Amino acid sequence: MKKNIITFENVVKQYEDEKVLKNVSFEIEQGKFYTLLGPSGCGKTTILRILAGFVDATEGDIYFDGQRINDIPANKRQVNTVFQDYALFPHMNVFDNVAFGLKIKKMPKKEIEKKVKEALRMVQLPGYEVREISEMSGGQRQRVAIARAIVNEPKVLLLDEPLSALDLKLRTDMQYELRELQQRLGITFIFVTHDQEEALAMSDEIFVMNKGHIVQSGTPVDIYDEPINHFVADFVGESNIVNGTMIEDNLVEFVGKRFECVDGGMRQAEPVEIMLRPEDLTITTADKGKLVVTVDTQLFRGVHYEIICHDEDHNEWMVHSTRKATEGAKVGLFFEPEDIHVMRFNESEEDFDARLESYEE
Ligand SMILES: Nc1ncnc2c1ncn2[C@@H]1O[C@H](COP(=O)(O)OP(=O)(O)OP(=O)(O)O)[C@@H](O)[C@H]1O
Ligand SMILES: [Mg+2]
Repeated sequence: MKKNIITFENVVKQYEDEKVLKNVSFEIEQGKFYTLLGPSGCGKTTILRILAGFVDATEGDIYFDGQRINDIPANKRQVNTVFQDYALFPHMNVFDNVAFGLKIKKMPKKEIEKKVKEALRMVQLPGYEVREISEMSGGQRQRVAIARAIVNEPKVLLLDEPLSALDLKLRTDMQYELRELQQRLGITFIFVTHDQEEALAMSDEIFVMNKGHIVQSGTPVDIYDEPINHFVADFVGESNIVNGTMIEDNLVEFVGKRFECVDGGMRQAEPVEIMLRPEDLTITTADKGKLVVTVDTQLFRGVHYEIICHDEDHNEWMVHSTRKATEGAKVGLFFEPEDIHVMRFNESEEDFDARLESYEE
């Protein structure tokens, strides 16, 4: 059965005259991998700090395992945090770093040794006890930081951009390792990143944030396939967004033409935004295209060419294609009705979810 371990209810955080969290509500189920995704300054770290008990919420309620924890001090909460800079003690060796919290708890020595050994085994650093922190690579330090957090057997592990200091290769390896570790331990992870690819690859659920709000929550596939608005469509993945008009259910107009689509549940003649992913567009001859565009530039991206075109209304279109295009050529863009994603202006997540549910039957 699904069990909520954390609930945020209408949480507000205000610093002087600035509200950095504006009425944030969400639920976290036990044992899943959650990601807070959003641009710098949107409030991700603030949510983790409130959860860990390092700062107080100005308004709202925070529940852990059914108990309101607003007034519970940080050291009494069953959460542990892995910080962006790892915050390891540089003058201590691996064992002392990992054992730190257990020593404070005055756990018997034998038990500490056993637990540290086990934690190091889990992060694949067995036998590294006496190694100095200064003699370890970035990825290894990162794993020591995780071992130090999991050794306390928290119910929830908070990870604040733990991979951002690593190079791309190591970062990708660590993504696999973290995901695997989370599944093995069954601990709830709340992971913070501003990297959308990382969020898509690792999470069971993503909360997309902007300016102190959760704009959309859902599985990676939901968020990628059905972004609620321009911000999410733009922030998660590459997208082409143009203005349009919803003529009626399953019929939308943009760039002066009408197209069959699979969206509905909007007002007649409602102004909307249209999103098409670059990988859903195919280049064909001008007479076979649903839209006619002119090729401006292209870049070779390894797996595909990224081709930039414009239409007669001067909208820019990005296409991903395994075939090269000819700069300056007039070509057609082909896409299917289900590739068209229609987005309303200022639709709430509640209305959006309800509309999708009623309309997608
Ligand atoms: N102690 C503080 N006093 C005043 N303002 C603060 C304080 N801490 C954070 N803020 C502000 O709150 C907002 C949210 O900060 P937060 O650290 O949560 O952002 P973030 O999403 O984690 O960003 P980043 O990706 O850059 O880490 C920012 O505008 C920040 O300047
Ligand atoms: Mg932050």
